[in-house]
Amino acid sequence: CSCNLHARRCRFHAEVFRLSGGRSGGVCERCRHNTAGRHCHYCERGYWRDPRQPLSSRRACRACQCHPIGATGTQCNQTSGQCPCKPGVTGPSCDRCAPGYQQSRSIRRPCQRIPETSSTEATPPGVYTPDPTCQSLCNASEAQVHMSSQQYCHQAYVLRAQVQSAEPSGPTWWRLRIRVLAVYKQRAEPLSTGVQDAWVPRADLVCGCLTLRPGAVYLLLGGPPGGHDPTRLVLDHRGRALPWRPQWAQTLRRRQREERAGSCP
Ligand SMILES: *[C@@H]1O[C@H](CO)[C@@H](O)[C@H](O)[C@H]1NC(C)=O
Ligand SMILES: *[C@@H]1O[C@H](CO)[C@@H](O)[C@H](O)[C@H]1NC(C)=O
Repeated sequence: CSCNLHARRCRFHAEVFRLSGGRSGGVCERCRHNTAGRHCHYCERGYWRDPRQPLSSRRACRACQCHPIGATGTQCNQTSGQCPCKPGVTGPSCDRCAPGYQQSRSIRRPCQRIPETSSTEATPPGVYTPDPTCQSLCNASEAQVHMSSQQYCHQAYVLRAQVQSAEPSGPTWWRLRIRVLAVYKQRAEPLSTGVQDAWVPRADLVCGCLTLRPGAVYLLLGGPPGGHDPTRLVLDHRGRALPWRPQWAQTLRRRQREERAGSCP
């Protein structure tokens, strides 16, 4: 079997046996410790192979630590652990500005070029060009949120939820595993609390319209209803994901009571 101590059993696979030229047909089953592959010999997506640990170690595969703002995704290079950084961002986890760049308040462009005049140091060549696709996509995220009655009524749903994991699902979507902790505004297609899947367009994550970090709790605003499969819980750039603040609970409960009393048209 040769499962590198990550699986307890393997099964015989005739096709693998044939392809190996009759040498071996063993395929490991249920690789543990975040490993994958026929011999549990590489790391699952979202993990990278730590060369300081032997392949048989329980810690051979380490979780990618991609910064929720600095990185464009949560998957790192499985050999080096390098996360995909936004322009001007550097470091294995994309948590620092590259030389010649300074931190900005934009989540789309967290590091922006230091203007030539204010810096006498030599800076690497390259021109800061805002991505026009992202600019027009993410407009909603720039707006302030005051959970007014009107704003609340406009949302397809309002939830408090913890993100548990996120992974790409095909070329255009990401699938999030979330635990819904409270439903403050119910959808036409009712949502319940508990663990479920949520779907986010890839572009909205890449452009930084939405930042969703596994482990963190968010207030999820669905944005205007419509536009997606109503049976799926979809979050896109028309909505918001705001790191949860406990002081919001009271206002949201009040809006919920008002809605039940018929305040939303
Ligand atoms: C991952 O990193 C290794 C080592 O730095 C590099 O050779 C390889 O091309 C990278 N893979 C991808 C997909 O970028
Ligand atoms: C986003 O903002 C830009 C500039 O303010 C504007 O031209 C564009 O129409 C807006 N896009 C959307 C989708 O609202």
